[in-house]
Amino acid sequence: MRGALRPAGRLAEVTRRVGVLISGRGSNLFALAKAAADADFPADIVVVLSNEPSAAGLTLANHAGIPSVCIDHRPFKRNREAHERAMHDVLLSHRVELLCLAGYMRLLTPYLVGAWQGRMLNIHPSLLPSFPGLHTHERALAAGVRIHGCTVHLVTDIMDEGPILGQAAVPVLHGDTAETLAARVLAQEHRLYPAVLKAFLEGAGRAPGAGAHLINPLPGPPAAP
Ligand code: GRF
Repeated sequence: MRGALRPAGRLAEVTRRVGVLISGRGSNLFALAKAAADADFPADIVVVLSNEPSAAGLTLANHAGIPSVCIDHRPFKRNREAHERAMHDVLLSHRVELLCLAGYMRLLTPYLVGAWQGRMLNIHPSLLPSFPGLHTHERALAAGVRIHGCTVHLVTDIMDEGPILGQAAVPVLHGDTAETLAARVLAQEHRLYPAVLKAFLEGAGRAPGAGAHLINPLPGPPAAP
């Protein structure tokens, strides 16, 4: 079904050209591509860029008819900025206007962060500012939190610390393992990222903090009798 997720015709007034950076599975990429296939979604995914040749997300992009490029970081050795410059050139050549990190597992240098300041979003599997970094589900379980979730934020120089654009919360259930919790969070990531991207592009995301988008699947308070 090559090209199955390419948008047919557009209803959105302004459609932005979005690039997605991945390193692995690509399930968030798939959620974004699926959303972007809707005629009234304000973005086209115009290129998928991976640092990892074996990333399953590259195959997903291929099946969805989205151009994909892999720039392996290994030949660049420790020169992370040179690797980023090569990626940046690809993004420019595809006339990308906004960048979404979706499981991109490299630490960014000030070069790429500076080049895309205010135009680079990331999804992180915790309710930031809790649990930045790796192994968020294990750490949430170890900390005994009852509420966990995911966050979409703007990328700044400090990892997992930029202004929050949206969050989705899930309960931590009795007997949860890191795997069951991760699966519950991931289902919300797939709802949150497209919703926040849309809101951001339509302007609602321009006031981080007060304007943060919330998807909360927890049951609300019981109705008054
Ligand atoms: C997601 O949990 C995302 O929050 C984190 O990396 C994971 C990527 O998963 N940044 P996928 O590649 O989108 O399936």
